Amino acid sequence: MIGAVQLGVLAACVVVLVPMGMAGYHLSRNKMLFFSGALFITLAIGVHLTPYFPSVNDFVTTVSSVVVFENRRESCLSHLHDVVWEVTPSPNFNPLDNNTVNYDKSWAWTSSSTVSACGFQKLGRFDASDLLNGSWVVVAGDSQARLVALSLLSLVLDSGPLEKVNRDLFKRHSDYQIVVGEIGMRLDFIWAPYTFNLTHLVNGFKRNRNYPDVLVMGSGLWHMLHFTNASDFGVQLQSLRSASVSLLPFSPDTGSDRPVTSSDRPVTSSGSGSVSGRSPHLFWIGMPTLINSMLNTEEKREKMTDAMRGEYDKELHNSKILRKAGGPLLLLDIESLSWNCGVRCTVDGMHYDMPVYEAALHIMLHALLIESHQKL
Ligand SMILES: *[C@@H]1O[C@H](CO)[C@@H](O)[C@H](O)[C@H]1NC(C)=O
Ligand SMILES: *[C@@H]1O[C@H](CO)[C@@H](O)[C@H](O)[C@H]1NC(C)=O
Ligand SMILES: *[C@@H]1O[C@H](CO)[C@@H](O)[C@H](O)[C@H]1NC(C)=O
Ligand SMILES: *[C@@H]1O[C@H](CO)[C@@H](O)[C@H](O)[C@H]1NC(C)=O
Repeated sequence: MIGAVQLGVLAACVVVLVPMGMAGYHLSRNKMLFFSGALFITLAIGVHLTPYFPSVNDFVTTVSSVVVFENRRESCLSHLHDVVWEVTPSPNFNPLDNNTVNYDKSWAWTSSSTVSACGFQKLGRFDASDLLNGSWVVVAGDSQARLVALSLLSLVLDSGPLEKVNRDLFKRHSDYQIVVGEIGMRLDFIWAPYTFNLTHLVNGFKRNRNYPDVLVMGSGLWHMLHFTNASDFGVQLQSLRSASVSLLPFSPDTGSDRPVTSSDRPVTSSGSGSVSGRSPHLFWIGMPTLINSMLNTEEKREKMTDAMRGEYDKELHNSKILRKAGGPLLLLDIESLSWNCGVRCTVDGMHYDMPVYEAALHIMLHALLIESHQKL
């Protein structure tokens, strides 16, 4: 600790020498006097006040670490999809079987230094249970959403109950609800093939003033097949966007045009590490890569072309429903995950093997961890 006297001497030296140095170079005499005065006052106030605010140092350290932490958080969110795949022929490869059984797939986050710094790791059942303890999760949408729901249940359930889920959840086109007793997690799967159905759902939450903690939605494939009209899809997305925005306490529509970030959301944990809070965490399940030649009906191959897929994508981005365009939903990018896993990860060019949805789930769980300021 430097004593007040030493500080005073130091201050005096600075007051005299700095302006003299400056004068010697490029400041006029008047400016020098002004600088001298300003420096003197600043230092005097500093010297006199420091004893009363011993925590100034702590404060400065806290502010800078918050800034670093916020930057790191945003950077880690943007690297969540940096995933690499390993797809290898399985030991009992049989040319008559399909890709699902003939190739083993596994994924991992890339080992680049930026990604390693984020410390992503696959979550085990315990971590996931801890994170989702006491929360209400709603997954709504088409078959892609159903696969995401299934991968979540595969992570938190034992194999016995999981088999029953597999049977029930795969009844075509129906809703499904389960409460996982041990962690008090409730999961609803809502069959909602069209974006219109999702808007309806979100408006229902709003009406009842009862929101899930995590809401994961996705649609588009059904619309592409049955309406084949990208601009209509865009119109539906915009109404879903306004409905979703109104679920959040601070919205891009009421404030400036800045994106809704996690720091806008109060995180009031109920369980030990749970994500349940007052406003929902919202995710969008993107459409998968479509491999046209593998689609299983003539109608699909005709309507769900690469060009049409591109137009639907453009509408998704133009609708500003996604976080990166200033909207409320964080994208789970099934397209990039499925593209990188590749043609050996699908049998019908549209539904991919479970590891693809498992990767999407882990990305979502890590986003929840990052947003609720938690570390593993
Ligand atoms: C792939 O092959 C397995 C085993 O032959 C079969 O159970 C499964 O239904 C097939 N999947 C598809 C989508 O054809
Ligand atoms: C979804 O919306 C369509 C179009 O309005 C409607 O006909 C259908 O019944 C809805 N489906 C569900 C499951 O809500
Ligand atoms: C596509 O949807 C838009 C908006 O709903 C509508 O105005 C247009 O007529 C539709 N186009 C076709 C070809 O149906
Ligand atoms: C869930 O939270 C409750 C209450 O905080 C706690 O007693 C229980 O042990 C937690 N369960 C798990 C699996 O974390």
